[in-house]
Order: sequence, then structure tokens, then C-alpha cells
Amino acid sequence: MHIIKVMKIFGVYFGAVTLLAGMLLVSFGAFAEEGGGHYQLHGDVVPIQEDGIHDPENDAVKTLQPPAEAMKDFPRDARGVINWVETLDSGLIAPRTGLLGNEKMHSVDFDVIFKNTASMPYVRFPHLPHTKWLTCKNCHPAIFLPQRGGNFVTMAAIIEGEFCGVCHGKVAFPPLQCNRCHSVARENVGLR
Ligand code: HEC
Ligand code: HEC
Ligand code: HEC
Repeated sequence: MHIIKVMKIFGVYFGAVTLLAGMLLVSFGAFAEEGGGHYQLHGDVVPIQEDGIHDPENDAVKTLQPPAEAMKDFPRDARGVINWVETLDSGLIAPRTGLLGNEKMHSVDFDVIFKNTASMPYVRFPHLPHTKWLTCKNCHPAIFLPQRGGNFVTMAAIIEGEFCGVCHGKVAFPPLQCNRCHSVARENVGLR
């Protein structure tokens, strides 16, 4: 089991799952390549104390596991980018629910299908993989009103960092990976 320890991170946290969000931030955040690569796995691998993220004066830099080593067995897509949902589901990581780790996660399992996708396949938004590491409040009501069809979402807005783009392209896989969101063939879908 690989445990990723992230001691000092700058950036914005999303909420309760701070350690996880921190990990994703370091993974994909300011350093992400356009394709969602990990800055320590795609391109030059630099020692932790020189990565510009960790405080080189802090003793922890000597005990932290280097990302390239910690993540070497994580599942990846065809382009070598880590699939974090599979990584979580396979138990390779076990993020804390909070700073103390004693909070309960409240996961829900239902999908919302977005159908205003022009000629693209429909978009499935799955609550389950999101609520395994995010709280409802991370999205509701600031990013999305919790109402099917209640938000006017466009691709341009997503790419500009709104709606799904608050996270996708920053701490989650980027808008470039069209088919991970546009995953539902137009004829195979129930009512939204
Ligand atoms: C993170 C999820 C996500 C990714 C990745 C994504 N989309 Fe979308 N896309 C959406 C959502 C959500 C909508 C809104 C649909 C609705 O409101 O019914 C949308 C809408 C669209 C639309 C129709 C509305 C518009 O604004 O034009 C097109 C066309 C589209 N996407 C193309 C793409 C293409 C091409 C890619 C890859 C380069 C892509 N999308 C990647 C989530 C995504
Ligand atoms: C990652 C963002 C995100 C998180 C986290 C999230 N949701 Fe949602 N939720 C959405 C989106 C997107 C929609 C669809 C909005 C739309 O259709 O415009 C939605 C829709 C809903 C709806 C409306 C369903 C309907 O049929 O009208 C409810 C209820 C809801 N969410 C409850 C929750 C609860 C409870 C949690 C926490 C356990 C949660 N959501 C966590 C993004 C999220
Ligand atoms: C608050 C942050 C946040 C928002 C907003 C958000 N996501 Fe995600 N999403 C994540 C994270 C974190 C993951 C897991 C990491 C990854 O897969 O890169 C994820 C994963 C996914 C997955 C992969 C599920 C799987 O089983 O592999 C899909 C599909 C997805 N999101 C679609 C969407 C769509 C569509 C929207 C907007 C309607 C959206 N997300 C909005 C954070 C978010």
C-alpha cells in the first residue's frame, strides 16, 4: 500500500477532504501539463526538497516518499496519466476524511445525464465517484444548484474554469479528455 504524505502545500483546498485535495493539487495543480500529466511523472523528476512546493527547511522532506516511487504502480490511461478513480477503488490510496480522519464520508450513488451536447455523446455526471472524496458542499449550491437541469452549463464555461471546470483541468482530469465525460451514446439514455 502506498501512502502519499503531503506535508506542505500551497493552493486552495476544496473542503473536508483536505489531504486528498492537497494530494490532487500537487498532482495536477499549477504544474499539470495540458494533458493532465503529473509534474513529477511526466517530464523531469526533481527531488522533493527542490520541487518548489515543499519547504526544504522542514525535516519532513527527508521522510516523504518521492511521488515517482509512490505512484509507480497506479493505474493509468493509454497516455500514462493516472486514473485516480481506479486508484482509489483499488485501495492503492486511502485518503483521510479530514485532518483527524474520524469524519464520516457521505456518498450518494446516482447519475445525472446532461443532454445539451450538440453532436457529442451525452455527459454522465456520476455522484458516486465524486462523493467518495468530496462533500456535497464542495458543489452544492455554489457550483451547481442541486436540481436536474437547473444549471446552464456550456463547454466554453467549463474550459474557462466554471462548473465542472472548477476541478476538471485543475485537480481532476482535464476537459481535453472528452470521452470520460461525454460517455453516453445518444440513443442509450433514460430521461434526464
Ligand atoms: C469534465 C466533463 C467534460 C469534459 C471532459 C468535456 N465536456 Fe463537453 N460538456 C460537458 C457538460 C457538463 C456539458 C453541458 C451539457 C448540458 O448542459 O446538457 C458539455 C457540453 C458540450 C457541448 C455542447 C454545448 C456547448 O457548450 O457547445 C459540446 C459541443 C461539447 N461539450 C464538446 C466537448 C468536447 C469536444 C470535449 C473534449 C475536447 C468535451 N466536451 C469535454 C462536460 C464535459
Ligand atoms: C462534484 C460536484 C457534486 C457533488 C460533490 C455533489 N453533487 Fe449533487 N449534483 C451535481 C450536479 C452536476 C448535478 C446536476 C445539476 C444539473 O442537472 O444542472 C447534481 C444534482 C443533484 C441533485 C438533484 C437531482 C434531481 O433529480 O434533481 C441532488 C438532490 C443532489 N445533487 C444531491 C447531492 C448530495 C446529497 C451530495 C452529497 C452527498 C451531492 N449532490 C454532491 C454535482 C455534485
Ligand atoms: C468539486 C470538484 C469537481 C467538480 C465540480 C466536478 N468534478 Fe468530476 N471529478 C472530480 C474528482 C476529484 C474526480 C476524480 C479524479 C479524476 O478522475 O481525475 C472526478 C472524476 C470524474 C469522472 C470520472 C468518473 C470515473 O468513474 O472514472 C467523471 C466522469 C467526472 N468527474 C465528470 C464530471 C462532470 C461531468 C462534472 C460537471 C457536471 C464534474 N465532474 C464536476 C472533481 C470534480
